[in-house]
Amino acid sequence: MSQQDRQLQILKLFYQQQGACLSGAEISRVLGVSRTAVWKYIEQLRALGYRIEAVTARGYVLHGSPDLLLPAEIRNALEAELIGRELVYFAETDSTNDRAHALAREGAVEGTVVIADAQISGKGRLGRCWVSPPGVNLYASIILRPSIAPWQAPQLTFLSAAAVARAITEITRLRPTVKWPNDVLLSGRKVAGLLNELDAETERIRYLVLGIGVNINMTSDQFPADLRFPASSLALETGGRISRRLLACALLRQMDKLYALYLAEGFEPILQAWQDYFDLTGKQVEVSGQEGTSRGRVLGLDGEGALLLRLADASIKRVLAGDVRPLQGF
Ligand code: BTN
Repeated sequence: MSQQDRQLQILKLFYQQQGACLSGAEISRVLGVSRTAVWKYIEQLRALGYRIEAVTARGYVLHGSPDLLLPAEIRNALEAELIGRELVYFAETDSTNDRAHALAREGAVEGTVVIADAQISGKGRLGRCWVSPPGVNLYASIILRPSIAPWQAPQLTFLSAAAVARAITEITRLRPTVKWPNDVLLSGRKVAGLLNELDAETERIRYLVLGIGVNINMTSDQFPADLRFPASSLALETGGRISRRLLACALLRQMDKLYALYLAEGFEPILQAWQDYFDLTGKQVEVSGQEGTSRGRVLGLDGEGALLLRLADASIKRVLAGDVRPLQGF
């Protein structure tokens, strides 16, 4: 068992105690390690920011926890039918999406969630990088194995976006909007991005990795100067620090609910959940994608999630992928 697993076991024991004193003998019995080893793990937890008091001849009391996304901090708050039944945590990794691919190839169960405190090569869409400093945000990747065809995979992007928007509403009481089809915005500024990747054969998906990055407590100076689109964080928008743990738990619960709905009833209710946060219907926009740039009025989405635009010549264009920008003055 790794050092991290031992620390998590001890945290679990503390949480079971609900603030009461936990004896060193009890920890050493449950973990099957010496009292000296227990002391070493307690010191490691203190170094992570846990406030643990040693009470002479009685044991240890946990007085406070840092806002970490360790599995022991998250697991109890999930109803986890499926999503979050396995949680894998890294203090630092290259990209949680890359870790999730590796785990999925090794056979990780559906619903496995990979979380990192920091990413050194966080990936954004279209080969961009996703700035991922430690201690402030959420970087998570979820492994799914739905029996769907590869062309249906983009449906899961709507699902993650709706789950992120619902979680942000729940925790901040602010009303986010979704930018078709990927980003989640507050006051027009991007606070979350999604990167879904798949491993598939021609007709069948082997697995999907849903990558989710939410800017939670990032400060203005932590954003790169050359961002293409205005970005922000939940803390900057609310004016107060947001608990990463609460946000992560809310997000995983929403993902779990929406995924169960998707498996039971298909894409339609997911698209409806997403549309609750879509505010561009009736607006004039510019969409740029691989096929060039189009301008038109948004009529809405079709049943497959494609954007329907009324162009200047009154024809209707169906757009499957691209970047949407609302045009000012319309
Ligand atoms: C985008 O808007 O460009 C998508 C950003 C997706 C970022 C998340 S953070 C967790 C996961 N791991 C990654 O490397 N990327 C995604």
